[in-house]
Amino acid sequence: MLQPTSCPRLPSAFASDIRNFAMETNIESYLIEKRVFKPAKEFAKKARIKSLAQYQKIYRESIRRPETFWAREAKELTWQKPWKKVLDWKAPFAKWFIGGQLNLSENCLDRHLNGWRRNKAAIIWEGEPGEKRTLTYQQLHREVCHFANVLKRNRIRKGDRVIIYLPTIPEAAIAMLACARIGAVHSVVFGGFSADSIRDRIADSGAIALITADGSYRRGAVVPLKNNVDHALSGGTTVKRVIVFKRAGNEIHMEEGRDVWWHRELEYVDANCEPIAVASEHPLYILYTSGSTGKPKGILHTTGGYLLGIYSTMKYVFDVRDEDLFWCTADVGWVTGHSYVVYGPLTLGATTLMYEGAPNWPEPDRFWKIVEDYRVTILYTAPTAIRAFIRWGDDWVKKHDLSSLRLLGSVGEPINPEAWMWYHKTIGGGRCPIVDTWWQTETGAIMITPLPGAIPTKPGSATLAFFGVDAAVVNERGEEVGANVGGKLIIRKPWPSMLRTIYGDQERYQKQYWSEFKGRYLTGDGARRDRDGYFWIVGRIDDVLNVAGHRLGTSEIESALVAHTQVEEAAVVGRPDEMKGQAVVAFVTLKGSASPSTRLKAELRDHVGIHIGAIAKPDEVRFAEALPKTRSGKIMRRLLKEIASGQNVTGDTTTLEDFSVLAKLSEEE
Ligand code: WTA
Repeated sequence: MLQPTSCPRLPSAFASDIRNFAMETNIESYLIEKRVFKPAKEFAKKARIKSLAQYQKIYRESIRRPETFWAREAKELTWQKPWKKVLDWKAPFAKWFIGGQLNLSENCLDRHLNGWRRNKAAIIWEGEPGEKRTLTYQQLHREVCHFANVLKRNRIRKGDRVIIYLPTIPEAAIAMLACARIGAVHSVVFGGFSADSIRDRIADSGAIALITADGSYRRGAVVPLKNNVDHALSGGTTVKRVIVFKRAGNEIHMEEGRDVWWHRELEYVDANCEPIAVASEHPLYILYTSGSTGKPKGILHTTGGYLLGIYSTMKYVFDVRDEDLFWCTADVGWVTGHSYVVYGPLTLGATTLMYEGAPNWPEPDRFWKIVEDYRVTILYTAPTAIRAFIRWGDDWVKKHDLSSLRLLGSVGEPINPEAWMWYHKTIGGGRCPIVDTWWQTETGAIMITPLPGAIPTKPGSATLAFFGVDAAVVNERGEEVGANVGGKLIIRKPWPSMLRTIYGDQERYQKQYWSEFKGRYLTGDGARRDRDGYFWIVGRIDDVLNVAGHRLGTSEIESALVAHTQVEEAAVVGRPDEMKGQAVVAFVTLKGSASPSTRLKAELRDHVGIHIGAIAKPDEVRFAEALPKTRSGKIMRRLLKEIASGQNVTGDTTTLEDFSVLAKLSEEE
């Protein structure tokens, strides 16, 4: 059992520091958390890293000589040609394992075929309606090779960009691995995104092909994926070929000369396809994520470094064993799905469980039924899901035997200590360590995290940096701040799985991540470290919202709103939300001819749904006669945030142009 022990009381100055920081940055922070959970002896004994001292020793070495550490790790991967140099760092551009050649799908598949793992389950999948499928490493290898030949037959070549718009089904993994096998660059678009979002991503990436399904299931309904694709492609794009997997059997249109069926294409090709050797820095994928400007950023990851990052974290953070069944509940459309549903577990030769649907379909115990049915041993999910389970009530959990679980993980947003404690007690039965893992689409792999056999955990803290990760909390001048003082979270050294650029926009890459503190990576998150050096991530400090673990740029939603014919101006802010972490509140001014109405509010919400996707729909739309602005015309978001969360406006308003605006906005509620 994990034993809570108390940790030294934090200085009283701490609370006010955090409050000041919170005021400056408008970030909510946590109360002082005193509980500490040490790794259980039995767990530690079997773990790869067995004690805090062992972690500290390796960590110190990995920071002193990162190249030595990463080279040692990289030797455990399969290289077709060895590298000549570990790192070439001309800030902010990194090249890892120069001269080395490898193939990611070979590392995920072929290398497990020589021994007994050949017949081990690689993927165990359950569809939302309840279908079950298991693919062994041998079977998955065959499917990937077969489909890779379909890609070739459809004139997709090394370096070409391919959009994947699929639900969490084995074919998503097959399509990703098949692209990697022939050196094509995939860009997975989350199945909840709309036609407009697909079109933007095609335009930005210059993709020549798209892989989708007729439909997918979500809460019992069919999501018309192919239909969305048709809308995205209408009007012409760079996409020449659409490969359609038959999943839901819904009626669809097949465009002659452009669209082909996945199953029919397989009939024309064989299942032999050697993995091509690509340079370590060959692009592997582009994944779009929200930033603080209107346009989503295409985060580019390359092959060798990314593979190494997910391999090492999978090994040390989840401490995966051959007998484990690893279940990461993320959708393949997000980075967590890329790194810890597909690539991470397969690189380790582990068994990954994939589930297609909603956690509360047909009832709120679906997750726990899956854990029981398959005897899942490691569960990796998001705080927003955990909070939903708490709301749905413990009875749903208690119906099931969760004794197979041995390790729990959390990702996507700060986990509040109460949710952590519930996860620990109710799901983990008090016996499973929790790894609260901090990372980002840009970092590719986990960066700040407990190692389950070594690092004592504190509810709400992601604890300490992973090997080779030089994380720090700094003030505006870039100086490291003292214990319990809030600041900006930065990374001071390059790491293998870091993003290489923003696709097609080198300048934005430099400006966004590396210009505020020259040569250091700016994460965009606020954090503090406690007296034990533990990191407490407070949340975003830029104009990015974290809604139910999904990143949304406020300006992206604003652009969608002002594209509506009746909208003059829009400002979007986050408001704290018990379930989703943050809720989206839109302040909207209308054009002269338009008048506010409940119908228009609903229309605007739908409008955002159509332009971005349902996840971005504002929870609240408020009409205003004007928005509070500074004399130079900048919208004062801080004030809007305070108004949105029902607080009195307290901060500095001396630069406000028109005070009457503020009074009107506050009255509106
Ligand atoms: C937030 C998801 C606190 C953070 C892997 C980060 C977290 C953003 C945690 C990245 C965590 C992720 N604790 N905050 N354990 N994990 N975040 O790109 O604000 O979708 O910058 O990657 O999520 O979100 P992204």
